[in-house]
Amino acid sequence: MQFSTIVFIVLSIVNLSLASKCPTIVTQKDFDVTKYVGLWYEAYRSDIIFEAGSRCVNATYTPNSDGSVAVWNQAVNILGDYTSIRGTARVKNASEPAAFVVTFDSPLQKGDYNVLTSNYVDYSLVYACTNIPGFDIKIEFIWLLSRTKTMSPTVVNELKKILSNMGADVDKVTQTVQNCQ
Ligand SMILES: *[C@@H]1O[C@H](CO)[C@@H](O)[C@H](O)[C@H]1NC(C)=O
Ligand SMILES: *[C@@H]1O[C@H](CO)[C@@H](O)[C@H](O)[C@H]1NC(C)=O
Repeated sequence: MQFSTIVFIVLSIVNLSLASKCPTIVTQKDFDVTKYVGLWYEAYRSDIIFEAGSRCVNATYTPNSDGSVAVWNQAVNILGDYTSIRGTARVKNASEPAAFVVTFDSPLQKGDYNVLTSNYVDYSLVYACTNIPGFDIKIEFIWLLSRTKTMSPTVVNELKKILSNMGADVDKVTQTVQNCQ
């Protein structure tokens, strides 16, 4: 084995372990939640265990009077049944208006919801990441949301580029089926 090959392998291993930590993210500045609310279709997502096999996924966001946002996610599950779940999104810190925590009551679950970029009228790139303590593993949640059931390939490519530049794994991002009727 040549020296350069060994160096390459060592660098690859180092890269791999660096890549398995959650990247530093920057959420959208001057985020305007009043423009963001309404209906979004899930155009693409990463492999997410609780969404495995879901199709025709959409999310409806409605402003609450206390400044939080009501979340209503609907989908057709892997068995072909309609499912929906309701929750509440809250800004974590007023200094970062596009970084939310979403809580769902049943089943009880909680997750981050960071809008990296959205133009409000076409697309939104939503990201969350968790490091597994004690392991060099990260779990990523990536959603490419669209105001319509499809998303232009140009926009998809630009959003994927943002993700990969940031250090996210875009390989596992796949298109969500949106033709259930
Ligand atoms: C949202 O998704 C659900 C489940 O797939 C579907 O029944 C509903 O028609 C969708 N809403 C819109 C406005 O497309
Ligand atoms: C909110 O963000 C500001 C600015 O980054 C920071 O100084 C402050 O500690 C944060 N507050 C909380 C409760 O995390």
